[in-house]
Amino acid sequence: TMADHLRKYESLFTLTPQRMRIIVEAFKETLEIGLAKHNQIVPMIPTYVFGWPTGQERGNYLALDLGGTNLRVCLVTLEGEGKFEITQSKYRLSEEQKQDDGQKLFDFCAECMKSFIDSNISGGIIEKDSILPLGFTFSYPCSQDRIDHGELIRWTKGFGAPNTEGHDVVAMFRKSLEKYQVPAEIVALTCDTTGTLIASHYVNPKTRIACIFGTGCNAAYMERVGDIPKIAGLGIDPDAEMAINCEWGAFDSFEHENLPRTKYDQTIDEQSNKPGEQAFEKLISGRYLGEILRLIICELIDEGVLFLGQNTYKLEIPYSFDTAFLSLMESDPTDELLMIIGIFTHFFAVETTLAERQFFRALAKLVGRRAARLSACGIAAIVSKMGYLEEGCAVGADGSLYKKYPGFADRVHEGLQDIFGEKGKNIVTCHAEDGSGIGAAIIAAMTKERKLANL
Ligand code: BG6
Ligand code: GLC
Repeated sequence: TMADHLRKYESLFTLTPQRMRIIVEAFKETLEIGLAKHNQIVPMIPTYVFGWPTGQERGNYLALDLGGTNLRVCLVTLEGEGKFEITQSKYRLSEEQKQDDGQKLFDFCAECMKSFIDSNISGGIIEKDSILPLGFTFSYPCSQDRIDHGELIRWTKGFGAPNTEGHDVVAMFRKSLEKYQVPAEIVALTCDTTGTLIASHYVNPKTRIACIFGTGCNAAYMERVGDIPKIAGLGIDPDAEMAINCEWGAFDSFEHENLPRTKYDQTIDEQSNKPGEQAFEKLISGRYLGEILRLIICELIDEGVLFLGQNTYKLEIPYSFDTAFLSLMESDPTDELLMIIGIFTHFFAVETTLAERQFFRALAKLVGRRAARLSACGIAAIVSKMGYLEEGCAVGADGSLYKKYPGFADRVHEGLQDIFGEKGKNIVTCHAEDGSGIGAAIIAAMTKERKLANL
Protein backbone atom coordinates (compact mmCIF):
# COMPACT_ATOMS: atom_id res chain seq x y z
CA THR A 1 0.00 0.00 0.00
CA MET A 2 0.96 3.67 -0.22
CA ALA A 3 1.47 3.67 3.55
CA ASP A 4 4.21 1.02 3.26
CA HIS A 5 5.97 3.07 0.62
CA LEU A 6 5.71 6.15 2.75
CA ARG A 7 7.47 4.43 5.64
CA LYS A 8 10.47 3.78 3.43
CA TYR A 9 10.76 7.43 2.45
CA GLU A 10 10.22 8.54 6.02
CA SER A 11 13.29 6.67 7.13
CA LEU A 12 15.32 8.06 4.22
CA PHE A 13 14.37 11.70 4.76
CA THR A 14 14.05 12.04 8.52
CA LEU A 15 16.88 13.67 10.47
CA THR A 16 17.12 12.85 14.17
CA PRO A 17 18.36 15.50 16.62
CA GLN A 18 21.42 13.36 17.23
CA ARG A 19 22.28 13.23 13.54
CA MET A 20 21.75 16.97 13.30
CA ARG A 21 24.23 17.61 16.10
CA ILE A 22 26.86 15.52 14.31
CA ILE A 23 26.31 17.57 11.15
CA VAL A 24 26.66 20.80 13.15
CA GLU A 25 30.05 19.71 14.51
CA ALA A 26 31.38 18.86 11.05
CA PHE A 27 29.95 22.13 9.72
CA LYS A 28 31.73 24.14 12.41
CA GLU A 29 35.04 22.55 11.53
CA THR A 30 34.49 23.32 7.87
CA LEU A 31 33.79 26.99 8.64
CA GLU A 32 37.07 27.23 10.59
CA ILE A 33 39.05 25.61 7.78
CA GLY A 34 37.61 28.09 5.29
CA LEU A 35 38.69 30.99 7.51
CA ALA A 36 42.17 29.55 7.99
CA LYS A 37 43.16 28.82 4.39
CA HIS A 38 42.44 30.13 0.92
CA ASN A 39 40.69 28.07 -1.77
CA GLN A 40 38.76 25.73 0.51
CA ILE A 41 35.54 23.95 -0.47
CA VAL A 42 33.49 26.28 1.72
CA PRO A 43 35.41 29.43 0.83
CA MET A 44 34.35 31.73 3.72
CA ILE A 45 34.87 34.80 1.57
CA PRO A 46 36.09 38.02 3.22
CA THR A 47 33.80 40.68 1.76
CA TYR A 48 35.63 43.91 2.68
CA VAL A 49 32.42 45.12 4.27
CA PHE A 50 33.77 46.44 7.57
CA GLY A 51 31.46 46.29 10.55
CA TRP A 52 27.81 47.15 11.01
CA PRO A 53 26.06 50.18 9.56
CA THR A 54 25.44 53.03 12.01
CA GLY A 55 21.86 53.46 10.79
CA GLN A 56 22.76 57.03 9.84
CA GLU A 57 23.77 56.22 6.26
CA ARG A 58 22.02 58.60 3.86
CA GLY A 59 21.64 59.39 0.18
CA ASN A 60 20.45 58.02 -3.15
CA TYR A 61 21.89 54.80 -4.47
CA LEU A 62 21.24 52.44 -7.32
CA ALA A 63 21.33 48.72 -6.73
CA LEU A 64 21.43 45.93 -9.24
CA ASP A 65 20.54 42.53 -7.86
CA LEU A 66 21.45 39.53 -10.02
CA GLY A 67 20.02 36.62 -8.02
CA GLY A 68 18.98 33.19 -9.20
CA THR A 69 15.70 33.81 -10.94
CA ASN A 70 15.22 37.52 -11.25
CA LEU A 71 17.15 40.62 -12.04
CA ARG A 72 16.13 43.61 -9.96
CA VAL A 73 17.08 47.22 -10.46
CA CYS A 74 16.45 49.45 -7.47
CA LEU A 75 16.75 53.07 -6.52
CA VAL A 76 17.17 53.33 -2.77
CA THR A 77 16.97 56.49 -0.72
CA LEU A 78 18.52 56.02 2.70
CA GLU A 79 17.01 58.47 5.14
CA GLY A 80 18.95 57.61 8.31
CA GLU A 81 17.51 56.23 11.57
CA GLY A 82 17.03 52.87 9.87
CA LYS A 83 14.57 54.38 7.36
CA PHE A 84 14.60 54.07 3.59
CA GLU A 85 12.55 54.25 0.44
CA ILE A 86 12.85 51.95 -2.52
CA THR A 87 11.64 52.06 -6.14
CA GLN A 88 12.31 48.98 -8.21
CA SER A 89 11.74 47.02 -11.40
CA LYS A 90 12.04 43.29 -11.83
CA TYR A 91 13.13 41.45 -14.98
CA ARG A 92 13.11 37.72 -15.50
CA LEU A 93 16.19 35.91 -16.78
CA SER A 94 15.64 33.22 -19.38
CA GLU A 95 17.37 29.83 -19.25
CA GLU A 96 19.21 30.80 -22.47
CA GLN A 97 20.59 33.96 -20.89
CA LYS A 98 22.02 31.90 -18.04
CA GLN A 99 24.02 29.79 -20.52
CA ASP A 100 24.87 32.45 -23.10
CA ASP A 101 28.15 34.38 -23.11
CA GLY A 102 28.84 36.20 -19.81
CA GLN A 103 29.41 39.63 -21.33
CA LYS A 104 25.97 39.41 -22.94
CA LEU A 105 24.45 38.76 -19.52
CA PHE A 106 26.05 41.93 -18.18
CA ASP A 107 24.96 43.80 -21.32
CA PHE A 108 21.39 42.78 -20.49
CA CYS A 109 21.84 44.02 -16.90
CA ALA A 110 23.15 47.34 -18.24
CA GLU A 111 20.21 47.67 -20.65
CA CYS A 112 17.71 47.06 -17.84
CA MET A 113 19.53 49.59 -15.68
CA LYS A 114 19.47 52.15 -18.50
CA SER A 115 15.74 51.85 -19.11
CA PHE A 116 15.05 51.97 -15.35
CA ILE A 117 17.09 55.17 -14.99
CA ASP A 118 15.50 56.77 -18.07
CA SER A 119 11.99 56.11 -16.85
CA ASN A 120 12.81 57.43 -13.38
CA ILE A 121 14.37 60.58 -14.84
CA SER A 122 11.19 61.25 -16.80
CA GLY A 123 9.21 60.45 -13.65
CA GLY A 124 11.23 63.12 -11.84
CA ILE A 125 12.66 60.65 -9.31
CA ILE A 126 16.24 60.68 -10.62
CA GLU A 127 17.94 63.99 -11.41
CA LYS A 128 19.06 64.45 -15.00
CA ASP A 129 22.86 64.35 -15.61
CA SER A 130 23.59 62.90 -12.19
CA ILE A 131 25.89 59.89 -11.88
CA LEU A 132 24.61 57.69 -9.11
CA PRO A 133 26.70 55.32 -6.99
CA LEU A 134 25.76 51.70 -7.64
CA GLY A 135 25.84 48.69 -5.34
CA PHE A 136 26.07 45.48 -7.35
CA THR A 137 24.58 42.40 -5.68
CA PHE A 138 25.98 39.44 -7.57
CA SER A 139 24.94 36.27 -5.76
CA TYR A 140 27.53 33.74 -6.81
CA PRO A 141 30.85 33.01 -5.10
CA CYS A 142 33.44 35.67 -5.94
CA SER A 143 36.83 35.98 -4.32
CA GLN A 144 37.48 39.57 -3.34
CA ASP A 145 40.56 41.50 -2.32
CA ARG A 146 38.71 44.79 -2.16
CA ILE A 147 35.09 45.94 -2.16
CA ASP A 148 34.83 46.86 -5.85
CA HIS A 149 36.40 43.80 -7.37
CA GLY A 150 35.52 40.09 -7.40
CA GLU A 151 36.55 37.10 -9.44
CA LEU A 152 33.83 34.56 -10.03
CA ILE A 153 35.07 31.30 -8.48
CA ARG A 154 32.34 29.17 -10.10
CA TRP A 155 28.77 29.54 -11.23
CA THR A 156 26.09 27.99 -9.00
CA LYS A 157 22.28 27.56 -9.26
CA GLY A 158 22.44 26.15 -12.80
CA PHE A 159 24.15 29.15 -14.41
CA GLY A 160 26.82 28.28 -16.94
CA ALA A 161 27.56 31.48 -18.93
CA PRO A 162 30.98 30.95 -20.54
CA ASN A 163 33.86 33.44 -20.22
CA THR A 164 32.87 34.51 -16.73
CA GLU A 165 34.39 32.05 -14.24
CA GLY A 166 37.81 33.36 -13.24
CA HIS A 167 36.98 36.88 -14.46
CA ASP A 168 36.39 40.08 -12.48
CA VAL A 169 32.64 40.54 -12.73
CA VAL A 170 32.87 44.20 -11.72
CA ALA A 171 35.14 44.93 -14.69
CA MET A 172 32.78 43.02 -16.97
CA PHE A 173 29.71 44.87 -15.73
CA ARG A 174 31.53 48.22 -15.89
CA LYS A 175 32.32 47.54 -19.55
CA SER A 176 28.62 46.92 -20.26
CA LEU A 177 27.60 50.07 -18.36
CA GLU A 178 29.99 52.08 -20.52
CA LYS A 179 28.74 50.47 -23.71
CA TYR A 180 25.17 51.51 -22.92
CA GLN A 181 26.24 54.87 -21.44
CA VAL A 182 24.53 54.20 -18.14
CA PRO A 183 25.12 57.07 -15.69
CA ALA A 184 26.10 54.86 -12.76
CA GLU A 185 29.36 54.14 -11.00
CA ILE A 186 29.90 50.74 -9.34
CA VAL A 187 31.25 51.38 -5.85
CA ALA A 188 30.62 48.03 -4.18
CA LEU A 189 30.21 44.39 -5.12
CA THR A 190 28.26 42.26 -2.70
CA CYS A 191 26.34 39.01 -2.38
CA ASP A 192 22.64 38.67 -1.46
CA THR A 193 23.57 37.21 1.95
CA THR A 194 25.95 40.05 2.82
CA GLY A 195 23.42 42.60 1.60
CA THR A 196 20.70 40.96 3.67
CA LEU A 197 22.99 40.88 6.72
CA ILE A 198 23.67 44.60 6.55
CA ALA A 199 20.08 45.56 5.66
CA SER A 200 18.65 43.42 8.48
CA HIS A 201 20.99 45.00 10.98
CA TYR A 202 20.02 48.48 9.75
CA VAL A 203 16.44 47.82 10.90
CA ASN A 204 17.15 45.31 13.71
CA PRO A 205 20.49 45.70 15.51
CA LYS A 206 20.08 42.27 17.12
CA THR A 207 20.89 40.72 13.72
CA ARG A 208 24.11 38.70 13.67
CA ILE A 209 23.58 36.30 10.75
CA ALA A 210 21.72 36.40 7.43
CA CYS A 211 20.55 33.51 5.27
CA ILE A 212 19.07 33.13 1.82
CA PHE A 213 16.71 30.22 1.24
CA GLY A 214 15.71 30.58 -2.39
CA THR A 215 16.93 29.20 -5.69
CA GLY A 216 20.20 28.81 -3.79
CA CYS A 217 21.06 28.60 -0.12
CA ASN A 218 23.80 30.54 1.68
CA ALA A 219 24.67 32.59 4.78
CA ALA A 220 26.78 35.54 5.90
CA TYR A 221 27.82 36.81 9.34
CA MET A 222 30.24 39.29 10.91
CA GLU A 223 33.68 38.03 11.94
CA ARG A 224 36.57 39.59 13.88
CA VAL A 225 39.44 40.17 11.42
CA GLY A 226 41.87 38.59 13.92
CA ASP A 227 39.85 35.39 13.63
CA ILE A 228 40.30 35.19 9.86
CA PRO A 229 43.85 33.72 9.77
CA LYS A 230 44.04 33.67 5.97
CA ILE A 231 44.08 37.48 5.76
CA ALA A 232 46.40 38.02 8.73
CA GLY A 233 49.21 39.34 6.50
CA LEU A 234 47.19 42.25 5.12
CA GLY A 235 47.81 44.61 8.03
CA ILE A 236 44.13 45.14 8.83
CA ASP A 237 43.36 45.93 12.49
CA PRO A 238 42.63 42.52 14.06
CA ASP A 239 39.88 44.03 16.18
CA ALA A 240 38.04 45.38 13.15
CA GLU A 241 35.05 43.34 11.98
CA MET A 242 34.39 42.11 8.47
CA ALA A 243 31.38 40.37 6.98
CA ILE A 244 32.06 36.84 5.75
CA ASN A 245 30.09 35.39 2.85
CA CYS A 246 30.24 31.71 3.80
CA GLU A 247 29.06 30.16 0.52
CA TRP A 248 27.91 27.30 2.73
CA GLY A 249 25.97 25.76 -0.15
CA ALA A 250 29.27 24.08 -0.97
CA PHE A 251 29.42 22.23 2.37
CA ASP A 252 30.24 18.52 1.88
CA SER A 253 30.90 18.96 -1.86
CA PHE A 254 32.94 16.25 -3.61
CA GLU A 255 33.64 14.25 -0.44
CA HIS A 256 30.01 13.66 0.53
CA GLU A 257 30.97 12.50 4.00
CA ASN A 258 28.64 14.41 6.26
CA LEU A 259 25.21 14.79 4.72
CA PRO A 260 22.49 12.16 4.44
CA ARG A 261 22.25 11.96 0.66
CA THR A 262 19.64 9.66 -0.84
CA LYS A 263 19.91 8.13 -4.29
CA TYR A 264 17.57 10.87 -5.57
CA ASP A 265 20.02 13.50 -4.36
CA GLN A 266 22.81 11.62 -6.07
CA THR A 267 20.91 11.51 -9.35
CA ILE A 268 20.27 15.26 -9.20
CA ASP A 269 23.94 15.84 -8.56
CA GLU A 270 25.15 13.58 -11.36
CA GLN A 271 22.76 15.12 -13.88
CA SER A 272 23.50 18.72 -12.90
CA ASN A 273 25.87 20.98 -14.84
CA LYS A 274 28.20 20.89 -11.82
CA PRO A 275 28.46 17.34 -10.47
CA GLY A 276 29.98 17.08 -7.00
CA GLU A 277 29.50 20.79 -6.27
CA GLN A 278 27.07 22.63 -3.95
CA ALA A 279 26.21 19.42 -2.08
CA PHE A 280 24.44 21.16 0.82
CA GLU A 281 22.52 23.52 -1.47
CA LYS A 282 21.28 20.61 -3.59
CA LEU A 283 19.48 19.14 -0.55
CA ILE A 284 17.89 22.42 0.46
CA SER A 285 17.27 25.05 -2.15
CA GLY A 286 14.21 25.76 -4.24
CA ARG A 287 16.00 24.87 -7.44
CA TYR A 288 16.11 21.19 -6.42
CA LEU A 289 13.26 20.29 -4.03
CA GLY A 290 10.66 19.78 -6.75
CA GLU A 291 13.10 17.64 -8.69
CA ILE A 292 13.71 15.40 -5.65
CA LEU A 293 9.97 14.74 -5.43
CA ARG A 294 9.72 14.14 -9.16
CA LEU A 295 12.48 11.54 -9.05
CA ILE A 296 10.66 9.64 -6.28
CA ILE A 297 7.43 9.71 -8.30
CA CYS A 298 9.28 8.46 -11.39
CA GLU A 299 10.78 5.60 -9.39
CA LEU A 300 7.30 4.54 -8.29
CA ILE A 301 6.04 4.81 -11.86
CA ASP A 302 8.85 2.50 -12.99
CA GLU A 303 7.98 0.05 -10.22
CA GLY A 304 4.39 0.02 -11.44
CA VAL A 305 3.09 1.50 -8.18
CA LEU A 306 1.73 4.75 -9.63
CA PHE A 307 -0.28 5.74 -12.71
CA LEU A 308 -0.51 2.27 -14.27
CA GLY A 309 -1.90 2.55 -17.76
CA GLN A 310 -1.62 6.34 -17.85
CA ASN A 311 0.69 8.37 -20.05
CA THR A 312 3.27 9.87 -17.69
CA TYR A 313 5.67 11.47 -20.16
CA LYS A 314 5.15 14.95 -18.72
CA LEU A 315 6.27 13.78 -15.29
CA GLU A 316 9.34 12.28 -16.87
CA ILE A 317 10.70 15.65 -18.03
CA PRO A 318 13.56 16.74 -15.74
CA TYR A 319 12.77 19.76 -13.57
CA SER A 320 9.13 19.77 -14.70
CA PHE A 321 7.96 19.54 -11.08
CA ASP A 322 8.34 23.04 -9.70
CA THR A 323 9.14 23.55 -6.01
CA ALA A 324 6.12 25.86 -5.89
CA PHE A 325 4.00 22.71 -6.35
CA LEU A 326 5.37 21.36 -3.07
CA SER A 327 4.28 24.57 -1.34
CA LEU A 328 0.82 24.28 -2.86
CA MET A 329 0.53 20.60 -1.99
CA GLU A 330 1.48 21.20 1.62
CA SER A 331 -0.97 24.04 2.00
CA ASP A 332 -3.99 22.44 0.25
CA PRO A 333 -6.82 23.08 2.74
CA THR A 334 -9.41 20.68 1.27
CA ASP A 335 -10.16 17.14 2.44
CA GLU A 336 -10.25 15.94 -1.15
CA LEU A 337 -6.90 17.65 -1.82
CA LEU A 338 -8.35 19.50 -4.78
CA MET A 339 -5.22 21.58 -5.28
CA ILE A 340 -3.21 18.41 -5.79
CA ILE A 341 -5.79 17.12 -8.27
CA GLY A 342 -5.35 20.39 -10.12
CA ILE A 343 -1.56 20.15 -10.25
CA PHE A 344 -1.53 16.58 -11.55
CA THR A 345 -4.32 16.95 -14.11
CA HIS A 346 -3.45 20.40 -15.32
CA PHE A 347 0.34 20.18 -15.50
CA PHE A 348 0.95 16.46 -15.93
CA ALA A 349 -2.28 15.11 -17.44
CA VAL A 350 -2.62 12.22 -14.97
CA GLU A 351 -5.46 11.15 -12.67
CA THR A 352 -4.80 10.58 -8.97
CA THR A 353 -6.64 8.75 -6.19
CA LEU A 354 -7.14 10.33 -2.79
CA ALA A 355 -4.67 7.86 -1.25
CA GLU A 356 -2.06 8.89 -3.80
CA ARG A 357 -2.67 12.55 -3.16
CA GLN A 358 -2.25 12.05 0.57
CA PHE A 359 0.94 10.20 -0.17
CA PHE A 360 2.26 13.04 -2.36
CA ARG A 361 1.47 15.56 0.30
CA ALA A 362 3.29 13.47 2.91
CA LEU A 363 6.28 13.20 0.58
CA ALA A 364 6.38 16.96 0.05
CA LYS A 365 6.39 17.34 3.81
CA LEU A 366 9.36 15.00 4.19
CA VAL A 367 11.40 16.78 1.52
CA GLY A 368 10.49 20.27 2.79
CA ARG A 369 11.11 19.35 6.41
CA ARG A 370 14.52 17.84 5.68
CA ALA A 371 15.53 21.05 3.86
CA ALA A 372 14.50 23.21 6.82
CA ARG A 373 16.24 20.99 9.38
CA LEU A 374 19.47 20.94 7.39
CA SER A 375 19.24 24.72 7.19
CA ALA A 376 18.95 24.77 10.98
CA CYS A 377 22.22 22.80 11.14
CA GLY A 378 24.01 25.51 9.17
CA ILE A 379 22.63 28.30 11.36
CA ALA A 380 23.49 26.31 14.49
CA ALA A 381 27.09 25.91 13.30
CA ILE A 382 27.57 29.69 13.05
CA VAL A 383 25.69 30.33 16.31
CA SER A 384 27.76 27.80 18.18
CA LYS A 385 31.09 28.89 16.64
CA MET A 386 30.41 32.54 17.49
CA GLY A 387 28.92 31.88 20.93
CA TYR A 388 25.57 33.55 20.18
CA LEU A 389 23.35 30.99 21.91
CA GLU A 390 23.21 32.41 25.44
CA GLU A 391 22.47 35.99 24.46
CA GLY A 392 20.43 35.01 21.45
CA CYS A 393 20.33 36.78 18.10
CA ALA A 394 18.22 37.51 15.06
CA VAL A 395 18.87 35.83 11.72
CA GLY A 396 17.75 37.95 8.75
CA ALA A 397 16.32 35.67 6.07
CA ASP A 398 15.04 36.03 2.52
CA GLY A 399 14.39 33.98 -0.61
CA SER A 400 11.37 32.30 -2.15
CA LEU A 401 11.55 29.22 0.05
CA TYR A 402 11.63 31.27 3.21
CA LYS A 403 8.91 33.65 2.04
CA LYS A 404 6.54 31.22 0.33
CA TYR A 405 7.02 27.68 1.58
CA PRO A 406 4.43 27.06 4.31
CA GLY A 407 5.99 26.28 7.66
CA PHE A 408 9.59 26.57 6.47
CA ALA A 409 10.57 29.09 9.17
CA ASP A 410 8.74 27.14 11.89
CA ARG A 411 10.60 24.00 10.90
CA VAL A 412 13.93 25.83 11.03
CA HIS A 413 13.07 27.02 14.55
CA GLU A 414 11.98 23.54 15.57
CA GLY A 415 15.27 22.19 14.21
CA LEU A 416 17.24 24.74 16.25
CA GLN A 417 15.46 23.54 19.37
CA ASP A 418 16.20 19.93 18.52
CA ILE A 419 19.87 20.86 18.30
CA PHE A 420 20.15 23.24 21.26
CA GLY A 421 17.21 22.33 23.48
CA GLU A 422 15.14 25.16 25.07
CA LYS A 423 17.91 27.67 24.37
CA GLY A 424 17.35 27.16 20.66
CA LYS A 425 14.43 29.55 21.14
CA ASN A 426 16.97 32.37 21.55
CA ILE A 427 17.73 32.19 17.84
CA VAL A 428 14.96 33.71 15.75
CA THR A 429 14.81 34.16 11.99
CA CYS A 430 13.11 37.31 10.62
CA HIS A 431 12.12 38.09 7.07
CA ALA A 432 14.34 40.81 5.62
CA GLU A 433 12.19 42.68 3.11
CA ASP A 434 14.17 43.73 0.00
CA GLY A 435 17.32 42.85 1.91
CA SER A 436 19.82 42.73 -0.87
CA GLY A 437 18.73 45.89 -2.69
CA ILE A 438 18.79 47.97 0.45
CA GLY A 439 21.87 46.17 1.72
CA ALA A 440 23.77 46.99 -1.46
CA ALA A 441 22.80 50.65 -1.06
CA ILE A 442 23.91 50.75 2.58
CA ILE A 443 27.18 49.01 1.71
CA ALA A 444 27.74 51.55 -1.07
CA ALA A 445 27.13 54.33 1.47
CA MET A 446 29.49 52.72 4.01
CA THR A 447 32.15 52.40 1.31
CA LYS A 448 31.87 56.09 0.38
CA GLU A 449 32.17 57.09 4.03
CA ARG A 450 35.31 54.97 4.45
CA LYS A 451 36.79 56.61 1.35
CA LEU A 452 36.05 60.08 2.71
CA ALA A 453 37.67 59.08 5.99
CA ASN A 454 40.64 57.75 3.95
CA LEU A 455 40.36 54.26 5.46
C1 BG6 B 1 15.39 38.21 -3.17
C2 BG6 B 1 16.65 39.04 -3.00
O1 BG6 B 1 14.39 38.69 -2.34
O2 BG6 B 1 15.69 36.88 -2.85
C3 BG6 B 1 17.75 38.47 -3.90
O3 BG6 B 1 16.42 40.35 -3.38
C4 BG6 B 1 17.97 37.03 -3.59
O4 BG6 B 1 18.95 39.17 -3.70
C5 BG6 B 1 16.65 36.32 -3.71
O5 BG6 B 1 18.94 36.50 -4.48
C6 BG6 B 1 16.78 34.86 -3.39
O6 BG6 B 1 15.57 34.21 -3.62
P1 BG6 B 1 15.22 33.46 -4.97
O7 BG6 B 1 14.13 32.61 -4.57
O8 BG6 B 1 14.89 34.50 -5.98
O9 BG6 B 1 16.50 32.74 -5.32
C1 GLC C 1 24.14 30.30 -4.23
C2 GLC C 1 25.24 31.31 -4.48
C3 GLC C 1 25.36 32.27 -3.32
C4 GLC C 1 24.01 32.86 -2.99
C5 GLC C 1 22.97 31.79 -2.79
C6 GLC C 1 21.58 32.36 -2.54
O1 GLC C 1 24.52 29.48 -3.17
O2 GLC C 1 26.48 30.66 -4.71
O3 GLC C 1 26.29 33.30 -3.61
O4 GLC C 1 24.11 33.66 -1.85
O5 GLC C 1 22.92 30.95 -3.92
O6 GLC C 1 21.12 33.14 -3.59
